[in-house]
Amino acid sequence: MSRILVTGANRGIGLALCEALAARGDEVIGVCRHASPGLTACAARLIEGIDVADPEALLRLADTLEDGSLDVVIANAGRLSSQRLGAIDAAAIEEMIAQYRINAIGPLLTAQALRPKLRRPGRIAIITSRMGSIADNDSGGSYGYRMSKAAVNMAGVSLAHDLAGDDISVGLIHPGFVRTEMTGGQGLIEASEAAAGILARIDELNAKRTGSFRHSNGESLPW
Ligand SMILES: NC(=O)c1ccc[n+]([C@@H]2O[C@H](COP(=O)([O-])OP(=O)(O)OC[C@H]3O[C@@H](n4cnc5c(N)ncnc54)[C@H](OP(=O)(O)O)[C@@H]3O)[C@@H](O)[C@H]2O)c1
Repeated sequence: MSRILVTGANRGIGLALCEALAARGDEVIGVCRHASPGLTACAARLIEGIDVADPEALLRLADTLEDGSLDVVIANAGRLSSQRLGAIDAAAIEEMIAQYRINAIGPLLTAQALRPKLRRPGRIAIITSRMGSIADNDSGGSYGYRMSKAAVNMAGVSLAHDLAGDDISVGLIHPGFVRTEMTGGQGLIEASEAAAGILARIDELNAKRTGSFRHSNGESLPW
């Protein structure tokens, strides 16, 4: 049994991860802003009131955990909104900054705050998106989301380097196109299928694979 902390655990892919982990006998620490009945049903422990863009909240989260008590941290919380060329006004800029804070700085702050809480060898999985891939961008648009996910990919590779000597591996994982609130219910797979793939990728994450960018289906993705 592993003890695994998941952010953005109350719905979508985060909740599906918590359900899959609990079903296989792992101990889930579900971190969220507001709990949901689904999360309450499967989490061994719930920590509410944590906005991942707020450094103080992440320090509060770390304070509630014992050093060396976690095997895996999954930085899953994320936000998507659309900004298009010609409509990047003051409100859109605020939205782009919000996505940067949540999608790029959030996982970095999560890793920084929870590093001492991981036992060794430890693993940090960052749920990124192939929309952050420059090589894979064949449709443009979605400026704030794409830029924030490209930034978190860079943060993940720096984390992999910085934590290699500390026996912590870092994986960047794209879940697939998943039917959740984020996609308005559109997608190719259910959150449960994405969660199963993400957990398989985390299970095989080690010092050799640290800093990799992979699809939940196992495919390596281009930067
Ligand atoms: N669905 C897809 O096709 C897809 C594809 C590629 C990548 N992803 C990534 O997968 C992850 C999960 O997405 P999803 O599809 O499950 O989206 P979702 O259904 O919209 O869920 C997003 C989760 O993130 C949480 N969250 C948002 N802002 C937060 C903040 N400031 N602090 C703490 N929690 C916050 C939400 O909590 P609240 O309920 O409090 O808002 C919710 O739990 C995200 O990182 C997303 O970018 C998804």
